[in-house]
Amino acid sequence: MKKILIVNASKRRKGNSYALEARIVEQLQGKAEVATFNIGEKDVRVCMACDACKRQHTPNCIQKDDFTALIPEIDSCDAMMILAPVHWDHFPAQLKAFLDRTYSFMDFTQPDFSMAGRKDKKLAGYFFCGFGPADVYTQMVEANLKHFATAGFRDYKAHVAGDANVPGSILDKPDDLKAADEMVAWLLA
Ligand SMILES: Cc1cc2nc3c(=O)[nH]c(=O)nc-3n(C[C@H](O)[C@H](O)[C@H](O)COP(=O)(O)O)c2cc1C
Repeated sequence: MKKILIVNASKRRKGNSYALEARIVEQLQGKAEVATFNIGEKDVRVCMACDACKRQHTPNCIQKDDFTALIPEIDSCDAMMILAPVHWDHFPAQLKAFLDRTYSFMDFTQPDFSMAGRKDKKLAGYFFCGFGPADVYTQMVEANLKHFATAGFRDYKAHVAGDANVPGSILDKPDDLKAADEMVAWLLA
């Protein structure tokens, strides 16, 4: 069974990222080994740029927080799915902190700058926004998902669902649900 890590970067417990997370977890029951990491409920500190991670040959970080504890899961999963809101046209701060911390996978002595154990992993980014423009946000999400290549996620897909201010409204949007279903099928393939 594939190991899929779901990372949720919303602070709205009743919001759309959580609503979709619950639906996906249910869909994946019996089809994949699923772990969830809800950043809003975790201690994920900012990268200190201390470069201590550059003095070792496996991904690690000297900070002892929930991100460091998750590193082995990030390294060994088959796929990761990020669920998150757009904040001020960007990744929300808590997800940017998560991305910054994947610097712990970077190794400048390697030709591909990566000390990830696995470099064949898939990454899906499913984002929610209020007013958009969703197409511009999709480009922003793709540009940022690219940086997860350092942690071994070389193949990625992005979707941004618009008009998503109302908590749970994603469940009434067939087109956006179809996009989510296709993403999950791609992660499982
Ligand atoms: C601090 C903050 C900044 C936001 N910035 C934007 C924005 O730039 N563009 C946009 O369309 N929506 C913006 N929104 C709206 C959220 O993206 C939207 O409500 C989203 O559906 C929330 O997802 P969630 O329910 O999973 O938390 C912002 C919301 C907050 C709280």
